Amino acid sequence: MAPLEVIQGDITTLTVDVIVNAANSSLAGGGGVDGAIHAAAGPTVLEECRGIIDQEGSCATGSSVVTSAGKLPAKWIVHTVGPIWERHGPADSATLLTNCYTSSLDAASYVGATSIAFSAISTGVYGFPKELAAPIAVSTVATWLQENLGDTTLQDVTLVCFDDDNFRVIRQAVNDLKHRT
Ligand code: APR
Repeated sequence: MAPLEVIQGDITTLTVDVIVNAANSSLAGGGGVDGAIHAAAGPTVLEECRGIIDQEGSCATGSSVVTSAGKLPAKWIVHTVGPIWERHGPADSATLLTNCYTSSLDAASYVGATSIAFSAISTGVYGFPKELAAPIAVSTVATWLQENLGDTTLQDVTLVCFDDDNFRVIRQAVNDLKHRT
């Protein structure tokens, strides 16, 4: 199974093939990690996002699209649209967050990426409780890797935590998974 790593830091600085952005359904940019990524990547990425929306319409929650990465050290950005906790509620939010991780891994694998780094989707403005999002992120990635082993270019998956709380709960979720398997 590809190694699953957890680090604390700024996802825009990472030299990996793919970074995963916590976007909104109109791919319009915003605050949080989305704002940081677009600020560092430069305007060409937002132009690509506008082109995708013009052609395909707005992105469904749980889905992911790929753009180039502009001035970032990464090769591609996968933009995924996380659930809004207050709007979707606990059960649908859990399913949709699973879809975000799965569709991002599918998209990264499709373009032939060997490494991918995730931000903690939906755990900021979108209000998904971090302690509930962490085990979903970890188990979804682990399951996807098991199911796609031998069939994917991906070799390294990193979960990037910006804040201390996510770093704590995501490391805990990885430890819990190790003890269960
Ligand atoms: N690197 C890595 N992670 C970061 C960074 C960064 N530079 N900046 C913020 N984060 C983390 C936050 O700590 C948070 O845990 O990203 C996580 C996700 O938070 P948000 O960026 O608020 O994303 P989300 O909750 O999915 O809300 C998406 O916010 O800015 C808008 O356009 C975006 O409308 C969309 C919504």
